[in-house]
Amino acid sequence: MAKILVTGGTGYIGSHTVVELQQSGYDVVIIDNLANSSEKIVEQITKITGIKPEFHKMDLCDRNKLFTFFENNKDIKGVIHFAAYKAVGESAEFPLKYYYNNLFSLVNLLEAMQKAECNNLVFSSSCTIYGQPEELPVSENAPIQQAMSPYGNTKQISEEIIVDQTKTSSLHAIALRYFNPIGAHKTALIGELPLGVPNNLIPFVTQTAIGKREKLRVFGNDYNTPDGTAVRDYIHVVDLAKAHVVALERMSSKKSESKFEAFNIGTGNGNSVLDVILTFEKVNNLKVNYEIVERRAGDVEQVWANTDKANKVLGWKTELGLDVALQSAWNWEKNLEKGILE
Ligand code: UD1
Repeated sequence: MAKILVTGGTGYIGSHTVVELQQSGYDVVIIDNLANSSEKIVEQITKITGIKPEFHKMDLCDRNKLFTFFENNKDIKGVIHFAAYKAVGESAEFPLKYYYNNLFSLVNLLEAMQKAECNNLVFSSSCTIYGQPEELPVSENAPIQQAMSPYGNTKQISEEIIVDQTKTSSLHAIALRYFNPIGAHKTALIGELPLGVPNNLIPFVTQTAIGKREKLRVFGNDYNTPDGTAVRDYIHVVDLAKAHVVALERMSSKKSESKFEAFNIGTGNGNSVLDVILTFEKVNNLKVNYEIVERRAGDVEQVWANTDKANKVLGWKTELGLDVALQSAWNWEKNLEKGILE
């Protein structure tokens, strides 16, 4: 069983990826500083898979601890790096917090990997690096646009740092550029766990439906889209998690065509905010209280993925639709309300 390190493994996408890795036969070690997650997620993962992943509460910015960890774990065959701050609005308010955390942790990790001769990295990137693309669906060779937020900029700079490192070391890396991950595991034992008021659409929808929030605000209905609301590519988090396993296998079986590769990880379909709300209402047989308000600063009008490269080259495609994702998100919210994590 190859041993894989997952940084940020108790977070939303990280925890779903740990489950998929374990179910594919990998031995998983998690490092997480719990800045935006809970150690209880380790138990939840164990409930799903029957295997307790090794867990280390550690901050990747702590170089010495990280280097010691790698010295003691020389058998790690690959790293999936999720650990990072991800709130777009907060990053505009506290840019240095984002640059410090997201970039120093990456530099430390790359250095530790090089010392330990651990040469396979999957990096958690984002479609935010494309900004508002001129051509839709957007493909991997679309120009990278000036970042709209410090958060987005950390993803751009991180990819550049990784590219440079692959040029001068034995590192192979795959950047997965996520579109909008949503939903939860079908067991409803893990899911998205927003701290405080959610920024993202789906947790706001589920919290409004359950009565934690009075009203969902739809940010703008005057976009140049079929119903006037903004369009995104919403991908089930379990499909997204599986892409990481495939990416890792691509590198370990030496199939990469170059030392750095990037893939769009989306469904290839665009859905508007209203599509999402109406589908959520329909599949869960309930009503969501919402109102149309002004556009949110920094939002792009529409973006969805060209997934040809991921489908053909990576050999991965989505299996779960928007309806399944929105049912699973609701089941997770109901479990949270029941106090599943308390
Ligand atoms: C943003 C980032 C993305 C990042 C993700 C994680 C950009 C372009 N995208 O995605 O890179 O990985 O956050 O946090 O910066 N909406 C509402 N009401 C709400 C919340 C959202 O109408 O209460 C709308 C938004 O205007 C948007 C859509 O729902 O049109 C999706 O929003 P959200 O879930 O926040 O994701 P993005 O902004 O697309």
